[in-house]
Amino acid sequence: MTGWADVERYLVDTVVHPDGALVNAVEATAHAGMPAIEVTPTQGKFLMLLAKIAGARRVLEIGTLGGFSTIWLARGIPDDGTVDTCEYEQAHADVARRNLDLAGVGKKVTIHVGAALDTLPTLAGPYDLFFIDADKVNNPRYLDWAIRLSRPGSVIVLDNVVRGGSVLEADGDEAVQGTRGALELLGSHPQLEATALQTVGSKDWDGLALAVVVAAAP
Ligand code: SAH
Ligand code: DHB
Ligand code: MG
Repeated sequence: MTGWADVERYLVDTVVHPDGALVNAVEATAHAGMPAIEVTPTQGKFLMLLAKIAGARRVLEIGTLGGFSTIWLARGIPDDGTVDTCEYEQAHADVARRNLDLAGVGKKVTIHVGAALDTLPTLAGPYDLFFIDADKVNNPRYLDWAIRLSRPGSVIVLDNVVRGGSVLEADGDEAVQGTRGALELLGSHPQLEATALQTVGSKDWDGLALAVVVAAAP
């Protein structure tokens, strides 16, 4: 029976057209034994388009893996734009570095290896676009940092906010708690306007949240 993944393949082939470097990045990530949890090509191109729509020049990503989303983000900014991306695992950063270089965006991207909560205090804002996609337990803290490193007009994207519906488990595991905390912050923070969209596809039933910073810190 036709399903979400078939439709995704059709949309990828018809609309998204990932090039060889993007296909290679996913293959190299899998070949290195890393988890197949990168965004889908439809989502990756959505990030690229968001960067273009926002006119982003400085992007901050939390959670690099093999650099698949990073390539899309880097392709959404001008030649003199920059992506800072935070990754805990040195082995992931090594694979990402190679994938980014092969994709021709290596010069735009700095990979900060270590716990993102150690890196974030060393970074200087403002960033124009944030993509938060690392350990979900820390999502509220990552969102706090994004706001701190933002300016009015900055865009924040938070990945994996539905996770097959597990977001409804009020007493769920720490990842669910982290994402619920971040969603509550998104929905109530005086500096943010936000929404969240459910998604289906090869990564099953999930979703992403989108926010814009509407005011400077008081
Ligand atoms: N954004 C990527 C997928 C990221 S997967 C893409 O869509 O292509 C999540 C990544 O976050 C993993 O590589 C994991 O090692 C990393 N990570 C987990 N905990 C982290 C932490 N505390 N600080 C930084 N990175 C972390
Ligand atoms: C997981 C993490 C992700 O960022 C994702 O997009 C999918 C799954 C995970 O930790 O299982
Ligand atoms: Mg994710």
